[in-house]
Amino acid sequence: MAQEDVFKKLVSHCKEYGFVFPSSEIYDGLGAVYDYGQNGVELKNNIKKYWWDAMVKLNDNVVGLDSAIFMHPTIWKASGHVDAFNDPLIDNKDSKKRYRADVLIEEQLAKYDEKIEKEIAKAKKKFGDSFDEQKFRETNNHVVETQTKRDALHTRFAKALNDNNLEELRQIIIDEEIVCPISGTRNWTEVRQFNLMFTTEMGSTADGSMKIYLRPETAQGIFVNFLNVQKTGRMKVPFGIAQIGKAFRNEIVARQFIFRMREFEQMEMQFFVRPGEEMKWFEYWKAFRMKWHQALGMGAENYQFHDHDKLAHYANAATDIEFRMPFGFKEVEGIHSRTNFDLSQHAKYSGKKIEYFDPEINQSYTPYVIETSIGVDRMFLSILAGAYTEEQLEGGDSRVVLKLPAALSPVKVAVLPLVKKDGLPDKAREILSNLRLDMNCQYDEKDSIGKRYRRQDAIGTPFCVTVDHQTLEDNTVTIRYRDSMEQERIDASKLHDLILDKVSGKELFRILSEAKKEE
Ligand code: GAP
Repeated sequence: MAQEDVFKKLVSHCKEYGFVFPSSEIYDGLGAVYDYGQNGVELKNNIKKYWWDAMVKLNDNVVGLDSAIFMHPTIWKASGHVDAFNDPLIDNKDSKKRYRADVLIEEQLAKYDEKIEKEIAKAKKKFGDSFDEQKFRETNNHVVETQTKRDALHTRFAKALNDNNLEELRQIIIDEEIVCPISGTRNWTEVRQFNLMFTTEMGSTADGSMKIYLRPETAQGIFVNFLNVQKTGRMKVPFGIAQIGKAFRNEIVARQFIFRMREFEQMEMQFFVRPGEEMKWFEYWKAFRMKWHQALGMGAENYQFHDHDKLAHYANAATDIEFRMPFGFKEVEGIHSRTNFDLSQHAKYSGKKIEYFDPEINQSYTPYVIETSIGVDRMFLSILAGAYTEEQLEGGDSRVVLKLPAALSPVKVAVLPLVKKDGLPDKAREILSNLRLDMNCQYDEKDSIGKRYRRQDAIGTPFCVTVDHQTLEDNTVTIRYRDSMEQERIDASKLHDLILDKVSGKELFRILSEAKKEE
């Protein structure tokens, strides 16, 4: 199945099974804003819990924070967002559609990559085991030619971005003959900068209202609380402050479902270090964050690092963790070395001294910062994309199953009486009540047992427990495992511990703790 079709199916699956709805749907929706339904909110909460526990609980020197969305407007002047938080936009004069110039060029780069991958796949098929990919890349005329074009484009693009050269960005679009996907023409406007921050007003107009911004990142709430947390928590550098919260960006191109939203949620951690030690910690957090992703078991080959072509105004090093989405490898998380830019700027604009006295070296300094920043919604999408599976079964039947990591599944176990009579519902509810305090459970007695299994597969429930007449006699039940569909008869008294061990997330923490010990 084409990846585009997989993505369409995933989007409709999200709606059909209560994961994600378009916002304000009965009023025809609101662009790039989404609501999370009954299963979506559980999955989202589980993702947030996995992140929070891994960052705050697992690390002695990382603590949490929940800062307000509304902040003093000077914060955004100091941070550089008022002047520099822009995207380069370009309009097609025929379709009147607006695009991000950098995204159009990135898509062109991806087209070159796809072309190369196709040549390689074709050759692999033709030559079988004797195929030497490295040699093929170096010697095949088509591949070498495409790679050369791609590299030249990449160099030109990175330079244009870093020089902030909008004319050159437009020229690249013209030279690469990039067309508008809607009109099919190359009738482009100039490239202009567009600030992504939403504004609103605080206070009544009569009293003189104040223009304030909806935060485009949660990080600034951490920076302006640096001293509060450091002093009250008696924190010693190096230490981190972690926060989960909403962020808002007036994205020009809001496509690909919840990948690029105007209201979204971030999980960010700022790690404050001694000046000069930032690269060591940058490498440390890069490795730890990659392990956090890979511990979920979605396949190591589906993740990659991608270093930034253009560094943000505050960074001296930056990389993305990308996941293989149905529309290619895409950024899920950014890891940035932000220098001491933000703390210094806030010191300058507020007139307050923001420094740390380091007793070990008997010196005061403005700490440097390593940031890990991941979008909850993008993580949600990557997990669903990795988990969505269509399977052909024996006997011509098929099923859609979400092979979610058990710790993230919205529902951990469904308890199903085989029939709606003979005391089976009562027994099922008794078993349910023993489980529900420790995990999210569902009770379902409608339709055939096969249909009920399919419903649970479709929302990624790792365990189904069926209560039948034998249960009343010997207290045994059938437990069915989602991925293998295997069934086993066990004593109902064993259910609680067996399931909790698999769904609690302890296994993930074992993996991460081991990873930390190795470092
Ligand atoms: N504090 C740094 C920062 O905000 P970023 O790379 O702009 O860095 C970090 O954003 C993460 O936030 C991204 O990797 C992505 O997961 C998420 N994100 C950013 N913009 C988003 C959007 N419009 N919709 C959904 N997620 C977004």
